[in-house]
Amino acid sequence: MTGNSEQYRIRQQPYYRPMGDEVDLFSAAYAARMPIMLKGPTGCGKTRFIEHMAWKLDRPLITVACNEDMTASDLVGRFLLDASGTRWQDGPLTTAARIGAICYLDEVVEARQDTTVVIHPLTDHRRALPLDKKAELVDAHPDFQLVISYNPGYQNLLKDLKQSTKQRFGALDFHYPDTEAEAEIVCHEAGIDQAMAEKLVQIAHRARNLKGHGLDEGISTRLLVYAGQLINKGIEPRVACQMTLVRPLTDDEDMRDTLNAAVATFF
Ligand SMILES: Nc1ncnc2c1ncn2[C@@H]1O[C@H](COP(=O)(O)OP(=O)(O)OP(=O)(O)O)[C@@H](O)[C@H]1O
Ligand SMILES: [Mg+2]
Repeated sequence: MTGNSEQYRIRQQPYYRPMGDEVDLFSAAYAARMPIMLKGPTGCGKTRFIEHMAWKLDRPLITVACNEDMTASDLVGRFLLDASGTRWQDGPLTTAARIGAICYLDEVVEARQDTTVVIHPLTDHRRALPLDKKAELVDAHPDFQLVISYNPGYQNLLKDLKQSTKQRFGALDFHYPDTEAEAEIVCHEAGIDQAMAEKLVQIAHRARNLKGHGLDEGISTRLLVYAGQLINKGIEPRVACQMTLVRPLTDDEDMRDTLNAAVATFF
C-alpha cells in the first residue's frame, strides 16, 4: 500500500441516518483517539456509519475485510521480491498508522487470534506498531484511530475475541433502525415512496420475530434496500421480495412459506 492519504479520503458526504447519539459519542471517542468497536447484526449500518464519520471528521478511511486466512503480515506488511531485489510493502494497518487514517477492521473476529494481537500495541498508551520482520517501530500518527466491527451472536467459544482484545475498545451497539427511520433509509437508498418503504419495513418486522425460531438472522436493512431497488426498477413487489427478502435468508421450505405469507399480507 502507498502512503498517499488523499486516495483514502471520502469526498462526498455518505448518507447516514443517525439512530441516537452515536455521532456525538463517536466524535468524542475520536477526539480521545479511543479505539472503538461497532457491534451489531449484518446490514444494520455499521460500515455506512464509519464512512460517514470518516467524512465528518475529515480523516482518510482504510477498511480491511478480515478473514480466517488472514495473517499478521496481511495487516502489517511484508517483504516482496522484485527485479531490483527485496522491497518492504506496508500492509493496510501500517499505512493507516503512518498517515493518520481511521483503520476499520471489518469482522475482526474472523481473524485468528495470533493475527488479532498485532493490534494490541496500537490500542494502548504505546500507540505504536512493531514491524518485527523489518525491525522497525512505527509510532502511530496523532490522528490515527482503530475501529473494529463485531457481529454479536455469530461467535462460538473457539471463535471470539479474547477479553484482552475486547477490553481495549469502547463500544457502540447498532440495531436495525426503528420503523420511521428504517423507512426513511429505504426511501432514500432505493428511491421508492414512503408508503412502499413502510410495507417493506413491516415485512422485515415479521421476519425479525422469527429469529431464533427457525431463522438465524432477521431481514437486514441492506436487504430492504435491495427489495426497494428492484421495485424501483419496475419489478413486481412480490417478486422483488421473494428475491431479496426470502431466498437469501433460508433454504427451508416451511420457513420460506412463512416468509412468503408475510410478504403476501402486504403485496
Ligand atoms: N443508519 C443508516 N443510514 C443510512 N443508510 C443505512 C443505515 N443503516 C443501514 N443503511 C443502509 O443499509 C445498507 C447496509 O448497511 P452497512 O453496509 O453499513 O451494514 P453493516 O452493518 O456494515 O453490515 P455487515 O456487518 O454485513 O458489514 C447500507 O448500504 C445503507 O444503504
Ligand atoms: Mg459492513
